[in-house]
Amino acid sequence: MGRRRGRKPRSGCRGWVGDSGGPKAKLFHPALEGPQRTQRPFDQHCEQRYSEPVRAADELKLIHGPAIKNRIFLAPLTNCQSHEDGTISDDEYRFLVMRAEGGFGMTMTCASHVQAVGQGFPGQLGVFSDKHLPGLTHLAKGIKAFGSNASVQLHHAGRISPKELVGTPVAPSDDAESGARGMSEAEVEQLIEDFIAAAVRCEKAGFDGIEIHGAHGYILCQFLSPEYNRRTDRFGGSLENRYRPIDMICEGIRQRCSPDFQVGLRISVERYGVELMEAVEVARWVLADPRFDYLDLSLWDVDKEPKEEQYKGLLRSYFTSLPRSGVRLGAAGKIGSGAAIQSVLDDGFDFVSIGRGAILHHDFAKRVLADPTFEQRDLPVTEAYLASEGLGPPFIKYMRGRPGFVEG
Ligand SMILES: Cc1cc2nc3c(=O)[nH]c(=O)nc-3n(C[C@H](O)[C@H](O)[C@H](O)COP(=O)(O)O)c2cc1C
Repeated sequence: MGRRRGRKPRSGCRGWVGDSGGPKAKLFHPALEGPQRTQRPFDQHCEQRYSEPVRAADELKLIHGPAIKNRIFLAPLTNCQSHEDGTISDDEYRFLVMRAEGGFGMTMTCASHVQAVGQGFPGQLGVFSDKHLPGLTHLAKGIKAFGSNASVQLHHAGRISPKELVGTPVAPSDDAESGARGMSEAEVEQLIEDFIAAAVRCEKAGFDGIEIHGAHGYILCQFLSPEYNRRTDRFGGSLENRYRPIDMICEGIRQRCSPDFQVGLRISVERYGVELMEAVEVARWVLADPRFDYLDLSLWDVDKEPKEEQYKGLLRSYFTSLPRSGVRLGAAGKIGSGAAIQSVLDDGFDFVSIGRGAILHHDFAKRVLADPTFEQRDLPVTEAYLASEGLGPPFIKYMRGRPGFVEG
């Protein structure tokens, strides 16, 4: 496993999901083992000592690279607007640069595939070849011209890749349901290498950083899942082994990109074959690992309770009191107003990621910063309205697939 600067030994997780068949180790479990904390744990990298409440307008310093001008990130949003070969189109460029102009502290691309066989959507942005470099370079420049931090979400769909796009999908293990083929160990190593190479390409293009997509049932989430990962080599079995691809990707990026390059990770914390307590453990590792800059929790609804019925309280509360070594914690899911942002920040998160609110308002961030009582508009909206907010025809068509979003 890669070098872990400043990371605590992982003895606590060894044997938990391992092959020994022994009892599960007891986990640190904030929502069950103590009162829910509303303050951030002490964090040596933070200049602000949290005597004051954190506001959306506050600058966010990361461990690496430039500070981010506020706490409102554009969530990664698949928009199906790229050309067939994965090069960026004018529609996608316009959509993203309008969000940078609209005040988002970080402007993140959609999930962008690192291997051709990892494509998950028609019209998906690609980062698997140098042919993507000119478009990526243009995009990074366009985003940064508005003082927004520019980032690419690195993705591989694995077993979820549609057959009509990729032929036979590849996955951690053979998968009868999707027809995906389990990868050899050499193929897993190549996958890791291609995530790293894509990050190097993004840095060359001028991006400030990347986010590793470990959420939503895509390939890195499949590796994490005991349901979809039934490997018996060093990439399967214990949680540490299932996490190994993410660990090696992060380490490779740290070795091959500049010290200023920013690395985030997005995870799902339940569903998609992910168990909540395993997600808590992964979050604990990441938040204590200063090779990472941030962890973005994709919750779909920040106010929800855990799906696993034995766990009570707010799902998000299982993560906010984990110790952090300067690694920032963010969340996404139905954060549609200035008040909702403040409540998530008050709860101990460092930033928020905005999805649907940013589709509806290219300047969602600017509006919240100008008026903390701002709320996103009601649904549904017309196609003409979405076009005025910078969505091209393929994206509008994609949004039609989301019930109740587009009128008519
Ligand atoms: C149209 C659409 C496309 C999305 N594409 C991605 C994606 O490419 N990568 C990703 O991690 N999440 C994706 N998501 C999830 C969002 O990033 C976000 O986490 C989710 O929409 C919840 O936030 P919201 O309630 O503010 O929309 C997508 C969501 C929507 C609605």
